[in-house]
Amino acid sequence: MFAKRHVISMREFSREEIDSVLDLAESLEPYARGGRCEALRGKILALLFFEPSTRTRLSFETAMMRLGGKTLSLGPAEGSAMAKGESLADTIRVIGAYADALVIRHPKEGSARLASEFSPVPVLNAGDGAGHHPTQTLLDLYTIRKESRLDDLKIALVGDLKYGRTVHSLAYALALYGAEITLVSPSTLEMPDRIKADLAGNGTIVRETHALEDVLGEVDVLYITRIQKERFPDPYEYLKVAKSYRIGADSLEGARDRLIIMHPLPRVDEIAPEVDGTRHAVYFRQSFYGVPVRMALLKMLIGDRLE
Ligand code: NCD
Repeated sequence: MFAKRHVISMREFSREEIDSVLDLAESLEPYARGGRCEALRGKILALLFFEPSTRTRLSFETAMMRLGGKTLSLGPAEGSAMAKGESLADTIRVIGAYADALVIRHPKEGSARLASEFSPVPVLNAGDGAGHHPTQTLLDLYTIRKESRLDDLKIALVGDLKYGRTVHSLAYALALYGAEITLVSPSTLEMPDRIKADLAGNGTIVRETHALEDVLGEVDVLYITRIQKERFPDPYEYLKVAKSYRIGADSLEGARDRLIIMHPLPRVDEIAPEVDGTRHAVYFRQSFYGVPVRMALLKMLIGDRLE
């Protein structure tokens, strides 16, 4: 069911499909920690990153190496023939013939979908502007499953819900698990209406508030995000909301004992360093889980055997 498909948006995944990725990730976790596995020996993954990335790019690279495969990278655009005026479509056609799959991150929404229309091999969307970030969502779900629970989940999505692609993808996936979602953002950075309408159409319970204190004592997972400075058309608008939410040790006083705090990272100052040592902080484990989850996905997409 996975071989050779593109991974562009979480809307294209069923709950069963997601569960099968998470199950495989679980069984590959020992290899993600350094065991030996040759499942993708001879395979090549191309990384096309036209926007900054630390975790996504390096965890894809690590995943490929841990499975015995190799990577090649292009980007930023200034260093490639795109600077001479080559179109994204032509670039994709060419690199698609060099590699077994392509990972693309690009500032324009819809770019990964466009790439998939020209690529002869699977395209994985590693973030298209303010659009989607489906592989982040898979590792977020894996984190919730391991560190909390996916059933009867109460979760708050906090921060920049307008431009944050991680929360767009995550919201769609959470709906498949029947989660109760509380959206917490400044009024100018609310979740787009289109996504809220889709969630309501699925029967998902969604609440909205601007005050983090309203929800801190009620949720199992607090998923906080960075205000996406680079997406603001006007820097003054960014400054108005830049410091909207910050979790410090004092904010956690009324929290549930088993509350987990997640963040896709990078954090700017949404979470005070003093929180890092508390039992609630899972964000650094979360970023490690990107390795087994991306290993699972790659194995399912381009591995020769589907076991
Ligand atoms: C996120 C992204 O690029 O959308 N980072 C990531 O992939 N872990 C979140 C962000 O940049 O704020």
